[in-house]
Parts: sequence; C-alpha cells; structure tokens
Amino acid sequence: MPAEFDDVVARVRERVVPDEAERERLDSVVATLRDRTEAALAELPVDANAVEVVLVGSTARDTWLAGDRDVDLFVRFPTDLSREELVEFGLDVGHAVLPDGHEEYAEHPYVTGAVEGFDVDLVPCFAVGNATAIRSAVDRTPFHTAYLAERIDADLAGEVRVCKQFLAGIGVYGSDLRTRGFSGYLTELLVLEYDGFRGFVAAAADWHPPVELDPEDHGERETASPSRNDEVGSTDLAFENPLVVVDPTDPGRNVAAVCSAEAVARLQHYARELLADPREALFDPAAREPDPLDPAAVRERFEARGTTPVAVRFAAPDVVDDQLYPQLARSRDGVVDELERRGFDVLRSAAFADESAVLLVELAVARLPAVERHEGPPVDVRDHAEGFDEAYADDPAVYGPFLDGDRYVVERDREFETAAEFLRSDALLGVALGAHVESRLRSEYEVLVGDDVADLAAEFGRELARYLDPHP
Ligand code: UTP
Ligand code: MN
Repeated sequence: MPAEFDDVVARVRERVVPDEAERERLDSVVATLRDRTEAALAELPVDANAVEVVLVGSTARDTWLAGDRDVDLFVRFPTDLSREELVEFGLDVGHAVLPDGHEEYAEHPYVTGAVEGFDVDLVPCFAVGNATAIRSAVDRTPFHTAYLAERIDADLAGEVRVCKQFLAGIGVYGSDLRTRGFSGYLTELLVLEYDGFRGFVAAAADWHPPVELDPEDHGERETASPSRNDEVGSTDLAFENPLVVVDPTDPGRNVAAVCSAEAVARLQHYARELLADPREALFDPAAREPDPLDPAAVRERFEARGTTPVAVRFAAPDVVDDQLYPQLARSRDGVVDELERRGFDVLRSAAFADESAVLLVELAVARLPAVERHEGPPVDVRDHAEGFDEAYADDPAVYGPFLDGDRYVVERDREFETAAEFLRSDALLGVALGAHVESRLRSEYEVLVGDDVADLAAEFGRELARYLDPHP
C-alpha cells in the first residue's frame, strides 16, 4: 500500500514539476519584465533606487504547477508616498510594462496583461518594514515569499506542487469566494507544517475541525478581511473557521480565513480515499466533471425522484465572481429559509451562474393545504391569550380558536399553497437576498416549475448532472 501511494505521487510529480525548458522561458520573461519595469520607473518622479521590483507568488517560490502561467510582479514603493501617488505610479508602470494590459481592482487598481504567453499581474505596493505594518493587504505578499523561500527546498517544492494538484483535483484549490478552498500560500504552509504531501494527507484524514495551526507560535489570532478585493469586503460571507493557520508573517491574520467547512470536509473525505485507494484520477480536475444532461434526462431524473423542483432564473448580476457567488449563496439561503418557514419541505437546493443565474429548490411536496396552523399563546398568559382569542373569535375565515393542550390555536388560510406562487409574488423580495441579486429580481425574473426546470439543461447541463448525481 505505501508503495502504491508513493508510485501515484511519483507519477503526479512527474507531470506537475516544470521541465528545464519551461523554467528557462519563465526566467527570460521575468528578466524582460524586470527590465521594462525598471525603465518605466526611471521615468517617474521617484527615486528609482528606493523602489524594489520583486517576483512573488508561486513563480518566485518554485511552486507553480507545470503549464500554469501566472507571474506576479510587485513594485514596492517607499511608504512616504500617498495612496493616490502609489496608485498613479503603479498604473503608469503597469501600462508601460504591459501595453496591451487592462486594469483590475484588488485593494487598489493594478495592471494585468499577457507577455509571451504568461499572464502577468503588475501590482504596486508599499515597502513596509514588516507584514504587521501593512497599509493594504497586498503589502503582505512579499513577506510570504521571503518566509517560504527560506524554508522550502527543491524537494519540498515538489511536494507542494503535488499537493496543489491534489487540491485542484478534488475541487478545493483556490481562495476565491466561489471555491472557498486552499490558497497557494496556505497549501505551502500546510505542506511545510506536515513535512510533505503524505504527512499532510495523513493528518487531514484525522482532523477534528476546528483545527488550529500556529507555525511560528504567535499565540494570538483574529480574522481579517477574507478577500483581496476591497469592494467585496466581508459582507455576505458566513463566518466559520474550521481551519485556522496563523500567518507566520502577520499574527493577526488567519491564512485560511476563506476556507469553508465544506472544503475542509471534502479534503478529509478525499484524503481518506487517497490513502485507502491511491489513484491518479484524484489529481485530475476533469475527472470530477460529469457529462452534461440534456433536458429529457433532467425531466426523467426529477420524475423518478418524485419531487417538485422549482427555479428562479434571472440575468446574472454583472459583478466579479468574488461578489456574485457569496450573493447567490446568501440568496439561496434566504429563499430556502423562507420556504421552510412557510411550511414547505425543502429536500435540497443549489445555485448556478453563467449568463443567467439560477436558484434551484427541490421540494418534497408539490402543494400544501389551503389552511395552515397558527399557534397562539398559552391560556394562562392572560393578556396575550385574551388578545389572541378576540382577534380571531369572530373571523369567519379561520377554524377556531380552539385549544391544543393549554394553548389557543387557529387554522387560517395559507398565503401560498405552492412554492411557485410564493416565488412569483412580491414576497420573494422580502427575503434576505444578496444586494445585486435583489436588484436583478426587482427588474425581471422567471419561475420554472416541475418539467419546465429541464429547460435549464441548455445552459446548466453539467451543473444539473452534478446535482442529480451528487458526490463529495
Ligand atoms: P496567487 O493567487 O497567484 O497564488 O497569489 P500563488 O501562491 O502564486 O499560487 P498559484 O500557484 O498561482 O496558484 C500570489 C501571492 O499573493 C498573496 C500570496 O502571498 C500569494 O502567494 N495572496 C494571494 C494573498 O496574500 N492573499 C490572497 O488572497 C491571495
Ligand atoms: Mn500565482
């Protein structure tokens, strides 16, 4: 068994460690970028000697996956610059180095573009003295690189690559707010902590979250903003911390702040799978992708389940994924909670997004009765009890009040007998929704019920296949 594990890892390692030609291509691109950056800096009204150009991220640490082509180059400006100057100079340099690039926005704008087939981010930051003195989240990044560079040798770098590929293969690699999984930096810290991929997998298989790791024994912690994108902030993100890894370079930060309980559980499940039955498919993201279902198949599958699917479809809000997915999750929770509060039995739900966005809810029953039970106070709470009795006593539309044990109860008309009626009504806008989802729903949406849900297969055939054939 251990031999099998080692064989699989060795084969994966072969694929994910870049060859000499790739390294040379990367080195040459980085050299070109450095030259261009320094030339651009010379044109600025700053002392070019006070500005440092540093390669950060996995290409700097020799932990990128073969074939991956992102280069993160940071330009560290003196801290006596104002934020406005930093942004202005950073964009000047960015556009000079990447003439075909475009601006993107994290905590402040930066330029991203392609050079010789590599995706380059040119990010300005402040050259603060240490990671606790940061003025913006990106200022921390060069400290991560310095910390890991000292500790990760070529052998451990190979282990990191295998680990990244495994996390990608099981769908939890990435700290974006759709994946809510493991970032590159977090993966490196975990492999370092457990002294290799195997140690990490064996430990994860036995974790009992919350798991707390503190590599530098800082002994203090608190959670910082989970996204690099300022617009996103921490709103709309449920806070749960199944994994806490105190940043060795900044004790105030949990490197795993974004990681969801589900991502940790998925890791644990597949760690056990890998140990019990080592196989390369677990390192292959494509192996997780089912074939899309066509509408007829979707219809058949829901029919066989005997459930009532309903879906709300609308044009996907035009916001970045780090805003879109948390808002969809929040909206889905809001709709499910409200349907349950109204007596509907929700078996399962999901949210999809592409051109359109969909909140899908699968109900155990198609229709509820015309009446619903409404409980009043216990009779001995005199004021409330009398108020309840008087409010309903002469109401011809209710059954009761009558007594159930020591309480008044009435059965009154149910507002919505089907989930679809509720979803088509204005009451839908009363539930807790993500802000941009709410504005979309205010302008236009459609509700699909039963067989019509199969229409979603044209756009979401793969998502529906995953929904109807679920696995960890
Ligand atoms: P990347 O997302 O490119 O990660 O961020 P990476 O470590 O290079 O890994 P891969 O191989 O591309 O997937 C570059 C660096 O920016 C910092 C980290 O130091 C990371 O290594 N970073 C990134 C953060 O501080 N916070 C984040 O949310 C993301
Ligand atoms: Mn990177």
